[in-house]
Amino acid sequence: MNIANKTVLITGANRGIGRALVNEALRRGAKRVYAGRRSGELQNADDRVTPLRLDVTNLSQIQRAVDEVDTLDVLINNAGVAIYDDLSNSDAIEHHLSVNFLGMFKVTRAFLPLLQRSSGAIVNNLSLVALAPLPVIPSYSISKAAASNMTQSLRALLAGQGVTVHGVFLGPIDTDMNRGFDIPKASTESAACGIFDGLEKGEEDIFPDPASQSIAEGWRTGAAKALERQFAAFVPERQ
Ligand SMILES: NC(=O)c1ccc[n+]([C@@H]2O[C@H](COP(=O)([O-])OP(=O)(O)OC[C@H]3O[C@@H](n4cnc5c(N)ncnc54)[C@H](OP(=O)(O)O)[C@@H]3O)[C@@H](O)[C@H]2O)c1
Repeated sequence: MNIANKTVLITGANRGIGRALVNEALRRGAKRVYAGRRSGELQNADDRVTPLRLDVTNLSQIQRAVDEVDTLDVLINNAGVAIYDDLSNSDAIEHHLSVNFLGMFKVTRAFLPLLQRSSGAIVNNLSLVALAPLPVIPSYSISKAAASNMTQSLRALLAGQGVTVHGVFLGPIDTDMNRGFDIPKASTESAACGIFDGLEKGEEDIFPDPASQSIAEGWRTGAAKALERQFAAFVPERQ
């Protein structure tokens, strides 16, 4: 899907990758960008940007946001949290699931009617840790694995309704989220560019940075992807 003249909604848009996605959507000629934020201010003077108060765990805020949006072509589920833990109690798991998995689910369900009307696209920002856990952030990894699994089901379930569903397997990107983790990181600008490039090419799995690109071919030709396609065939065709 080409972004020019499209309407895009991005959650967690006030900083990090979300803010870079807003700028990249504008650069590619988006007609309107709805920029969801839980807190903080949005620093964007472009009059195509409409700020939305949107905590993805807050159902009444989600409903108010839906009421403010007339049409929508692309929903980018970007909001997320990552906190170090060691699986010593369930609080961290519940917290990560509530934002990274259930938040993504609730926002997607709420905006789905608009996306069905436009034959639009859902882009879910996942992580390489959805494919194999990083054991210093196991609860985060669990939530991204769950979100990845949901992305695959939604892809199969919505295929007959004209809505495409894309998973983004991000590697390390230079944001607040992994401040203090001393590894090579890609810039937010290059990640945002890679995400929209993948969407424009129609890739269902998007690998937008050097670390993720290194496993793209292996994933696309691997057993897990083959099983996803095999299982998707069980979804009944719509009448
Ligand atoms: N950075 C990486 O290396 C990396 C790698 C793989 C995947 N990702 C994924 O990419 C996405 C963006 O991450 P980032 O690196 O840009 O992180 P970030 O700089 O920490 O920004 C996270 C964004 O999510 C928002 N957010 C958190 N909880 C929220 C909630 N309940 N409702 C709405 N918004 C909420 C934050 O809002 P506040 O400002 O209000 O906190 C912030 O805008 C996340 O899904 C993350 O898991 C990042």
